[in-house]
Amino acid sequence: MKEQLNNIRLEAEKCLNEVKSSADLESLRLRFLGKKGELTAVLRGMGGLTSDERPIIGQLANDVRSFIEGKLEEGAKILQNKEQELRLKTEYIDVTIPGKRRFIGKKHPLTIVSDEIKDVFVSLGYEIAEGPEVELDYYNFEALNIPAGHPARDAQDTFYINDEILLRSQTSSVQIRVMENKKPPIKLISPGRVYRSDSVDATHSPVFHQVEGLVVDKGITMGDLVGTLQLFARRLFGEDTKIRLRPHHFQFTEPSAEVDVSCWTCGGKGCRVCKNEGWIEILGAGMVHPKVLENCGIDSKVYSGFAFGLGVERTAMGRFNIDDMRLLFENDMRFLRQF
Ligand code: PHE
Repeated sequence: MKEQLNNIRLEAEKCLNEVKSSADLESLRLRFLGKKGELTAVLRGMGGLTSDERPIIGQLANDVRSFIEGKLEEGAKILQNKEQELRLKTEYIDVTIPGKRRFIGKKHPLTIVSDEIKDVFVSLGYEIAEGPEVELDYYNFEALNIPAGHPARDAQDTFYINDEILLRSQTSSVQIRVMENKKPPIKLISPGRVYRSDSVDATHSPVFHQVEGLVVDKGITMGDLVGTLQLFARRLFGEDTKIRLRPHHFQFTEPSAEVDVSCWTCGGKGCRVCKNEGWIEILGAGMVHPKVLENCGIDSKVYSGFAFGLGVERTAMGRFNIDDMRLLFENDMRFLRQF
C-alpha cells in the first residue's frame, strides 16, 4: 500500500508538471482526488490493515493528498499567469494610432433663435404652451373667426388629412386650446411648427416655425402690446431697435397690425438686407377679437387681451444674415457648423 501511495504521488507529480490547460487540471484532480479517483480507491482498502499499520498509512495518504492539492493549486496559478501574459501581449493598446474624431453637437440656428425668444418671454413671466401640429379645422380656423368659405383661408391654404383635420397653418390654434381650458389671467407663448401649401423658394417653405403670444386679463390694452413688443425687439436685436406698427387685418384680432423692426443691419438707414426700407416685418399682432374670447367662454366685457405671431425663420435669417431660407432646412453640415 505504501508503494501504491508513493506511485500515485510520483505519477501525479509527473502529470501535473506537464499540465497545459485548466481542463487538464480538472481531469487530473478527478483522476487522483475524485470520488472514483486513485487515491480514494487506495484509502478504501485501508479496512484490511492492522491497527499498527493504519496510522502510518493514514499519515502517508494524507501527505500524498496535500501534496497533490498543493500541486493543483500551483498549476492553477501558473496557468493564470500564462493567460495574463498572453492577454498582455495580444490586447495591448497602441497609443500611436490616431484617435477617432468626435464632433460636438451644436444647436441649429432655428433652435438658437427659438431659445432666445423663449428666454425673453419666460423672463417676463410667460408660460410655454404646446399644441398639436395635426389639428382640427375648428382650432386652426373656425374658432379663430375664420369660417368655412371665408377668403381669409386662401392666404393660409394648408395640407388636409380630411375635411376636418389638417396640418395647422398657424400657432394661433393654441390660443383657443388654452383659453378653452384656462380662465384669465393668461400669459403664454407657444412655439411650434406650422404648414402651408407654399412652394419652396428663398423666402418660403411649406414647413416653418412660429412663436405665438397671448395675454388675456382685465384691462389689457394696445399699449401693453406695443410696450411688450418694443421690449422684446430690444432684447433680441439690440437696445437701439425700434418697432413700427402698420394697420392690417386678421380675423381673430381687432384692431390688427403688422409689426416691423428697424433693420438689424443698417439700423434703419436702408440697405440690401431691408431692401432699402429701413424696416423688416417680423410679426403679426393685435387685440384678441371679442368673438374669439366668447368662442372660448371668456366674457369679452370683463376681459381683453392681445396676441402676436412671430416668424422664427425670418427672425433667424435676420439675426444671422442668412439670405436663403432653404439653408435652414437642408441640414448641410458646412452651413450648420458656422453657428
Ligand atoms: N397667426 C397669424 C399668421 O400666421 C399671426 C398672428 C398671430 C396675428 C396672432 C395676430 C395675432 O399670420
